[in-house]
Amino acid sequence: MTEIAVVGRNEEDLEKLGSEFSAVNFLFIPGDISKTDDVENISQKIKDAWGSLDILVNNAGVVSAGPLTEISDEDIINQININLTGLILLTKKVLPLLKKSKEGAIINISSGLGYIAMPFYSVYAATKAAVRQFSDAIRREYPDYPLHVMTVYPTATDTDMMKNAKAGNMDSAEKVAKQTIEGLLNKKINVILGGDERKQQIEINFNEPEKMDKITKDNYENMKKRTENHRSM
Ligand SMILES: NC(=O)c1ccc[n+]([C@@H]2O[C@H](COP(=O)([O-])OP(=O)(O)OC[C@H]3O[C@@H](n4cnc5c(N)ncnc54)[C@H](OP(=O)(O)O)[C@@H]3O)[C@@H](O)[C@H]2O)c1
Repeated sequence: MTEIAVVGRNEEDLEKLGSEFSAVNFLFIPGDISKTDDVENISQKIKDAWGSLDILVNNAGVVSAGPLTEISDEDIINQININLTGLILLTKKVLPLLKKSKEGAIINISSGLGYIAMPFYSVYAATKAAVRQFSDAIRREYPDYPLHVMTVYPTATDTDMMKNAKAGNMDSAEKVAKQTIEGLLNKKINVILGGDERKQQIEINFNEPEKMDKITKDNYENMKKRTENHRSM
């Protein structure tokens, strides 16, 4: 039977998973990955249950959009603490368990904004770009040990996080999950959602950032409006 540990702050949400996926043996661990005691407890619970871990999926994330001067100090600090510090702490604490696996893997969920920063997502984009660098550094820290570290860059995806964002067409969570699993099976380093168009934009952003500045300037008011109530903390 597949065994999956799931962490989240809301215990009720965790338990709902149990009735939705009866073929999985879940280990539910309520906790906040931005709190060091909770992270310690998470790794201890996994160690007690299984003694090792095959795959860590760093998926927890929050967003608070808007012009920087209008994002509260608390939301700035919490976005960094959850999206980045928590991800790093959890990775650190479970690495000894991953090392006991014959083919361990870490899947870090970044965002398209981790490649191409957009106005009104300054803090979120900074955390997601940092996730990309962290992934590459950790993979390079274990060159001879079979630990695959992969980063996923979803575009707008239809989840609770997007309830207050005025996004147009969104990917389904199933599509992101499917591409993530395919990426892992093919030992991809980066899984970038959004098709060829997104890959071209990444090249433009890297090679000619002033072109991307112009694109965002031309869409400024529209982007500001679309993101004004986007908060999911
Ligand atoms: N949806 C998009 O358009 C999109 C696009 C690009 C990237 N992403 C990234 O994809 C990942 C998943 O997001 P989603 O769209 O599925 O968002 P979501 O529906 O809001 O889910 C976020 C999950 O993270 C958990 N979480 C948040 N803070 C946590 C904390 N401090 N400790 C433990 N768990 C925590 C939440 O559970 P609790 O609230 O119960 O803690 C929830 O299960 C995130 O990293 C997000 O940044 C999403």
